[in-house]
Amino acid sequence: MDTLEIERRYSGLVDQQCCLSCGGAIDLSQPQPGETCIDLGCGKGTDLIRLREAVGGQGLVYGIDISEGMLAKAQKNIDKFGYSNVKLIRSELEQLHVESNIANLVISNCTINHASNKRAVWSEIKRVLKKGGRLVVSDIYSTEPVPEEYANDPVAVAECWAGAITKEEYLSILTETGFKNVTIVEESKPYKKGEIVVVSFTVSANKPSCNCGS
Ligand SMILES: C[S@@+](CC[C@H](N)C(=O)[O-])C[C@H]1O[C@@H](n2cnc3c(N)ncnc32)[C@H](O)[C@@H]1O
Repeated sequence: MDTLEIERRYSGLVDQQCCLSCGGAIDLSQPQPGETCIDLGCGKGTDLIRLREAVGGQGLVYGIDISEGMLAKAQKNIDKFGYSNVKLIRSELEQLHVESNIANLVISNCTINHASNKRAVWSEIKRVLKKGGRLVVSDIYSTEPVPEEYANDPVAVAECWAGAITKEEYLSILTETGFKNVTIVEESKPYKKGEIVVVSFTVSANKPSCNCGS
C-alpha cells in the first residue's frame, strides 16, 4: 500500500470514538518501572501513556505505527502529559526501525492481523526483544482460512478482519519463530466480523533467555 492509501485507510479512524482494540494486552502485560517497552501499531497512543505511567521516568516507551495521522494524534496525546521518554517511530511492523535486543516487553493490540507478512513481524518482535523478554499481543484469529478474495482486499484488511489467519497457523508461526511459553491468556467466543467468523484473543510468550535449542 502506498503512503496516500495508508493515510486514507487508517488516519480516517483517528477521530472515531470507538475502541480500536481486540483485547487486554496492556492490562495483562505488567510493565515494570525502568523497563523498555514497545507498542506495535500504537494508533492514537492510549496504551503508550499507560506504559509510560508504569515504567516511569527511568523507562523508555516506543510507539510504532505506519500512519502519520495516527502518530500525529498520539504525539498530541503524549504532549498533554509532557512525557519525554515516549518515542514515536513511523515504521512497518515487517521491518521495525528499532535496534535489536532493546525491549523487555512488546505489546500490540489489533494490529498484527493487518500485516501482510506475519512471519516477518514475529521475527522482528524476536529481534527487538532482549533475551528472556516477553510479548503480550491482543489480536484476532479466524475460525476458517479467509477466502483469498477478502484476504487480498486492503479495505477489508484495514477493517480488522480480512487479514486474520487461523489459530493453528498463528500459534505455529510463534513456535516456529522460536518463542517459548506460548500461552493464550484470554479468548472470546467466536463472532461475525465482516464476511467471516473471528475470535479475539491475547497471547503471551518469551524470547528464549539463551541460544540453547532455539
Ligand atoms: C485497529 S488500529 C489499533 C490501534 C491501537 N493498537 C489500539 O488498540 O487502539 C491498527 C493500527 O495499526 C496500524 N497499522 C496497520 N498496519 C500496519 C503495519 N503494517 N505496520 C505498522 N502499523 C500498522 C494502523 O495505522 C492503526 O493505527
